[in-house]
Amino acid sequence: MALALSDPVKLPCGLELPNRFVKAAMAEMMADPKDGLPNEDFIEAYGKWAEGSWGAILTGNVQVDLEYVGSTKDPSTGPYMKKNIEIWRLFADTCQKKGTPAIVQICHPGRQSVRGAGRRGLFTQTMAPSAVPMNMGNGLLAKFVRWLVFGAPREMTVEDIKRVIDLFVDTARLMADSGFAGVQLHGAHGYLLTQFLTSKTNFRTDEYGGTPEKRAKIVVEIIKAIRSVVPATFCIGIKLNSADHNSGDFDATVRQIELLIKAGIDFLEVSGGSAEDPKMMGRDHLPKKVEAKKSERTLAREAFFIDFATQIRKHFPDLVLMVTGGIRSRRGAEAVVHSKAGDLVGIGRPAVINPKFPQLLLDKSVPDEEAQLVLAKVPLPGWIKFLDLKALGAGVETGFYVTQIQRLAKGLATFGP
Ligand SMILES: Cc1cc2nc3c(=O)[nH]c(=O)nc-3n(C[C@H](O)[C@H](O)[C@H](O)COP(=O)(O)O)c2cc1C
Repeated sequence: MALALSDPVKLPCGLELPNRFVKAAMAEMMADPKDGLPNEDFIEAYGKWAEGSWGAILTGNVQVDLEYVGSTKDPSTGPYMKKNIEIWRLFADTCQKKGTPAIVQICHPGRQSVRGAGRRGLFTQTMAPSAVPMNMGNGLLAKFVRWLVFGAPREMTVEDIKRVIDLFVDTARLMADSGFAGVQLHGAHGYLLTQFLTSKTNFRTDEYGGTPEKRAKIVVEIIKAIRSVVPATFCIGIKLNSADHNSGDFDATVRQIELLIKAGIDFLEVSGGSAEDPKMMGRDHLPKKVEAKKSERTLAREAFFIDFATQIRKHFPDLVLMVTGGIRSRRGAEAVVHSKAGDLVGIGRPAVINPKFPQLLLDKSVPDEEAQLVLAKVPLPGWIKFLDLKALGAGVETGFYVTQIQRLAKGLATFGP
């Protein structure tokens, strides 16, 4: 029987993805902080992913605001700069050299901008919808780490909000002019757009807060403004955090997704977690090797956020959904698509260890038991357990894979933990 995973998917903008596998966004941490531009390391690493038969390639997060970036080595853009087009075009052409569409993840970190990252001064505050500091855990150490790494944010003015909207739009236009197939707004993992969307960090009483609709206003304005400057065939996606489907948060999220669809998104990727509580890395739920007899229902549960995606599907039968996190095997990926929870399957860590992961899973001559890449947890140094900091384990996990991406960029073999 043919694999559902090898079926193409057409997005509302007309972009066709040749199969269901999407290389998920992974920060490469390789840009030179002086200019934030993708350099030869990006060309080398993405050249490998371009050969991997992906349905689409998502880049790691590209920061839209030179003042506030996530980490010191994130690529970043700022206001539209024509002179940089050739560099971004080389990046787009590299990703797409075999015809795979490449989508740039664009991001503003808000209060999650590390001190010293970006062009603002070391003691210039981060900014966020409301002046709510990060919560890195209990105890004095966690508070000290929060102060040291992030400081406390100031509440954004409406002028700040308009400036950030313009920066998202300028970045999307630059990417469209450079030949990328689309952009994905990073509306997950605790970054600025999530900070607006959720009532946990948005206490505003003006037009950008107070109700689910008002909290989504910045995102809706960004999508509409991007749509007005890019070709109709340019794709706009979003990555969103899951919400507990038995709570008021879930109803608010459903209402917000409805608005995002009306504004013109092409696909929605489901993830979860933040720098405070990095659920997206799923360190407590990393899948084991798939045995022959598991049911499809159990297999779909390889995906960390399958329950949320299943609930969202009930509300939006036609929305193109991408499910990312924990998918390691052909049978698991196939079960996600069969269950209809996800049209697209996002692959993060396995894509680093095997940049041609889709070729392994789509090759029917490879038996099911071998069509998987099970990865152990990255081991933590012993001293970490003495620190009450949830983010540390995920930080070590991410750091390991960043090093592996950097090995890809140097033409070296990559290896699992
Ligand atoms: C090294 C690394 C960097 C990441 N950077 C990003 C990022 O820039 N943007 C993003 O949305 N998610 C990022 N993630 C999260 C992944 O996109 C994905 O959601 C997560 O790794 C779970 O998928 P997996 O289990 O297939 O790895 C990163 C993950 C890793 C391992």
